[in-house]
Formats: sequence, structure tokens, C-alpha cells
Amino acid sequence: MSAVVSQLREGENPLVEGLERLPVRPTSLVIFGATGDLAHRKLLPALYNLAHEGALPERFELIGVSRSDQPHEDFREMARESIERFSRRKPNDEVLSGLLSDMRYVPGVFDDDSVYSELERTLHEFDDQAGRVLNRVFYLSTAPSFFPVIAGKLAGAGLQRCEKAETRLVIEKPFGYDLESARNLNAELLDVLDESQIFRIDHYLGKETVQNLMALRFANALFEPVWNRNYVDNVQITAAEDLGIGGRAGYYERAGALRDLVQNHMMQLLALLTMEPPTSFEANRVRDEKVKVLEAIVPPSVDQVRTMALRAQYTAGTVGGVDVPGYREEEGVAPDSRTETYAALRVQVSNWRWAGVPFYLRTGKRLGRKLTEIAVTLKPVPHLAFQSTGSVGVQANQIILTVQPDEGVSVSLGAKIPGTRMRIRPVNMEFHYGTSFLSESPEAYERLILDAMRGDATLFTRNDEIEALWGIIDPVLTAWREDTESPILEYPAGSPGPREADELLHNENRWRRL
Ligand code: BG6
Repeated sequence: MSAVVSQLREGENPLVEGLERLPVRPTSLVIFGATGDLAHRKLLPALYNLAHEGALPERFELIGVSRSDQPHEDFREMARESIERFSRRKPNDEVLSGLLSDMRYVPGVFDDDSVYSELERTLHEFDDQAGRVLNRVFYLSTAPSFFPVIAGKLAGAGLQRCEKAETRLVIEKPFGYDLESARNLNAELLDVLDESQIFRIDHYLGKETVQNLMALRFANALFEPVWNRNYVDNVQITAAEDLGIGGRAGYYERAGALRDLVQNHMMQLLALLTMEPPTSFEANRVRDEKVKVLEAIVPPSVDQVRTMALRAQYTAGTVGGVDVPGYREEEGVAPDSRTETYAALRVQVSNWRWAGVPFYLRTGKRLGRKLTEIAVTLKPVPHLAFQSTGSVGVQANQIILTVQPDEGVSVSLGAKIPGTRMRIRPVNMEFHYGTSFLSESPEAYERLILDAMRGDATLFTRNDEIEALWGIIDPVLTAWREDTESPILEYPAGSPGPREADELLHNENRWRRL
């Protein structure tokens, strides 16, 4: 598709600023695993929405690579169906046809040299048509075992670099299985590419509300002065899901909740919440700060794991009025599986700013509802002058960042209940994305694909960051792997999680209601 696929703007609205048309150099995007689930549900619909916004580069070419043998037309038809089914906005025929019109498909297995010669031929053809060398982005939407294979084959075909244009590689988690395998993967990729060419996606960083965490902290004078051990009592980060494992038992059985959500998404939330202000929002400045704070999280010893981490599995229950089976009854799950579907941790950030503040993290499948939030609870006021006049429910201030659903921020304040007596009750001051910006937030993948094409790595995870993340989690994984005896805790599907999770909390703290 040579021409720009142009946007449709439904009436100008000054409050709506979507994915602005930031300059993006003409690009050929190659998706490996183009017939897979991620491409189907996320990548192709995201590309459509970028096209719809007019955010794609003036020249944009797409090549799908996958095993199934099919002509270009069948791939285009499949892409059309994915977009029609999963796009966040109803596709416009003209934009969609423009996007699909020159999409190519290269069939083959990823270790077959002929795939790469065909790719090279097609990329050159696009360059010739454009009269210039297009940037190249290789998106590996494949099983992780193929990452080094594909990177190696690209290098073998001389496609890992291009003199007159940028070449980038995008990969999806998991980046390794533990610290050692993550180091090996980094080394294998860095054997053929520069770190600046590698874009490791953590789709949480593409979420508007996650980026808003930085805006909240660093664009407001209000919060930063209290963002430290002197004022913050504790922090809870929750990533609760009502869904189960879907058809992903093969992956999930090996991964578990800790690898699936804590090691990446939740730790990223923690890093953004606790890092020092970067000097600029240039990619490496932000990532330097994240690495610094991650390094301040002292990994527990294997013995300490028992008191700071907890795992559990869901049993049969009811979610949203529907009866669902327990984890061990799910198709593809071993009847004696010890894989955790719930994980909770208490971590300390051992630096000047945060020493002594407990950070509680919990995530689980098949909990009562989907909710991702960060709750920062401040310390209580030092003296309650209203006590004698009958204050009710004076509570510590809380700053709640809701990542999803109902994205926004709320701050709880003590307010006077109308009447003659000085009675206090918590009320909320709220900001909701939906009402403040009157627009639907772009999907994380839209932002991330665009950034990868622009070469902006701020929202991507650097190699040292990946290793720091695994370093924190590794002892927990080891302790859990070595403990083959103690029974796995259970929680009924649809519940807020195992009751034993309360034991991780210090003092009077309680898990927030789900
Ligand atoms: C993925 C995990 O990374 O994140 C899934 O592999 C999980 O298991 C998903 O369901 C959650 O993402 P989101 O955007 O729905 O919160």
C-alpha cells in the first residue's frame, strides 16, 4: 500500500488528541507469526487503527510470515477478518482496503533460509517502488524459542542492518524463563544486533494510564513532595483478572502468575511509581532510572521467600454468574499441577526515598473481577484534633490510580459532613479518562508499534532492566520450584483470592476490596 491511508476525523474536538501524527519514516513492517493469535487479536487491528488515525508513515508496507502455505489474497482476507472482529473502531472500507491492498505473505518455517531470501527480495521490491530504502521493522510475534533463530537467520541473510535505513527488531515477552535464560537470550540477540535496535514490548507500558503515572508524578507539584517514606505508609498494586487461562494451558503451566504478570507488568508499574525523576524523557534517561530503582529492590533469600511471597491456585467457582472449573480441571493442565494462578508479594525498595515502606503486589486469574490499580496510602495525620467532637471514619489519604477498567485517578480526602458537629468522612476527588478527554484511549499496541517504527524506545524494556527484573523474581521461583511438598493454597474462582494472603500484610493493613 503505497499511498497514505488517510484518517477519518469525526468532527474536531479540542479535548481529543489521539495518536498525533508524529513523523514516522517510511517503513516496511515484517510480522513473523502473522497468522497467530497476537497478530489476529492485537497487531493487525492496531495497524488498522493507526491507519484510521492517519498515523502510519506516508509509505507503509506490511509482510506477514508464517508457516501455513497460502497465497497473499488469503492472508489479506484473514487480516480483514481479524480487523473487522477486533478493531476498537468499526473499520471504514476505504481505509481498510488501502491497508490490505498490497500486503504480502511469505510462507515458511522460521529456520528455512528461503524465507529470508524471499523476504529480502520483497523488501527490495518495496524499496524500488518507493525510490528509497525504507526502514525495516521485524516483529517477532512467535514462540520465544524462535527469537534467536530468526535474529540469526536475518543476520545470515544480511538483513539485520541496512546502510541507508534503520532496522529494528520487536519481541514480545517472555524474555527468558529465569535470570540465566534471560541473560542467554540477551547475549544471543546482542550477538547480531545492537541494543538500540531491539524493542522488547511490555504492553502495560503502552497503556495510557501507565504513562499517566509519570505525568501524575512529574507534571504536578502536588504529589512529588509526599512521594516518599516520610508520607507514604504503604502501596498496594493489584492486577486482578476474572478470566482464566483460556486456551493457553501449554504456556501457562510452565509460566504461572509470577512469570506471566509480576516479573514484567507489575514490576514495571512498581518501577514507574518509585523511580527518581528522569532528567528528560529520552529513552535511556527513563530506563536508567528504572534500572536504578529495580536494583534497590533487594531480592529475598530463598529462605525469606516463605514470609514475603505466597502462591495459590483457583478451584471451581462462579465468575460473573457463570460456573467455571478449577485450574487443575482446565484442559491441558496436569491434575496435580503446582503452577500458581495467584501470586502475592511484599517487597521493599531499599533506597533513601523508600526505605521501610512496604509494597504489596497481588495478581490472580479467575478473581472476582478485572481490576488493575495502584493504591498509595499516606500515613495518618499526626494528631486528630476532631476526635473529641465525634469524628467518624477519619482515614489516611489514598491516591488510587486505576489502570483498568474505568481508567483514572482518585484521591480520597477527609471532608466535613454537613451539620453542626465536626464530623469527618472520606470523599473522593476523581479524574476519569472517559469524561475528561471524551475519547477512547488508543490500544497499547497502537502506541508501541508506532514508537518502534519511530525508534523511540522509552516504553520498551532494555536488556539490563530485564535482567534486574528477573534478579528480583528468581529466588521466589527457586524457592517455589524446590518446595515440592507443601500443599498449594487454594481460592474459589470468583473470590478475592486466598485468605492466607492477609498474612503478608503488616500492621493494620488490609488488601483493598476487589
Ligand atoms: C499478558 C498475560 O501479558 O497480560 C496474560 O500473558 C494476561 O495472561 C494479560 O491476561 C493481561 O493484559 P491486560 O492488558 O488484559 O491487563
